[in-house]
Amino acid sequence: MFDTANYYPERDGRLPELDADELTSSALLQRRLPRSRVVKAFNNITPHQLVTLARPAGAPDRNALPIAGDDADAKAEAAGLLDVLGHDTVDIGTLADSWRSEPDTPVYIRPYLGEVPALNVEDFLRWTIGTPGIAVPAARVGELAEAAVRRPASEARLPSRD
Ligand SMILES: NC(=O)c1ccc[n+]([C@@H]2O[C@H](COP(=O)([O-])OP(=O)(O)OC[C@H]3O[C@@H](n4cnc5c(N)ncnc54)[C@H](OP(=O)(O)O)[C@@H]3O)[C@@H](O)[C@H]2O)c1
Repeated sequence: MFDTANYYPERDGRLPELDADELTSSALLQRRLPRSRVVKAFNNITPHQLVTLARPAGAPDRNALPIAGDDADAKAEAAGLLDVLGHDTVDIGTLADSWRSEPDTPVYIRPYLGEVPALNVEDFLRWTIGTPGIAVPAARVGELAEAAVRRPASEARLPSRD
């Protein structure tokens, strides 16, 4: 199963295992759904850009997205689906590694949007609908994920409502 989710404590409520940085949110989901094979994907791109940036396989401006998971077969299936949907994938590791694509990391949302205006969540999502987006090639996704520095999950904040 795909885990598209991100942990924002102010929106989702506090989860002690995540606040203690014992587990990533996807690893917690996997623990709670032991019969599922969890693959984290789609969490770092806004929905409209998933459509506007889709290209056929081999296109020179093909976009790429990170995936993470503990099951190699499930990751291969996930990559196959993403390919059909028009995107390359970059395997960034296990569910324990999946913090590398979470909020406040370099590969999270911004590279696919360029300059982002300061807006509250609702206005931000509205703004993304009028924005074509920027394709991020696989090599760049790999570099951005590699450059990530882990921050406390408890500190993730939604865009300001001011
Ligand atoms: N929107 C984006 O741009 C975007 C991009 C990447 C990742 N994400 C991540 O994807 C996740 C979902 O975001 P979204 O924008 O799709 O949110 P959303 O439109 O608010 O949808 C959330 C869905 O989860 C369901 N839900 C909420 N609490 C639940 C519970 N306790 N048990 C079962 N179902 C529950 C809701 O059901 P009801 O309708 O019945 O309330 C709703 O269908 C978030 O973690 C978000 O950070 C979002």
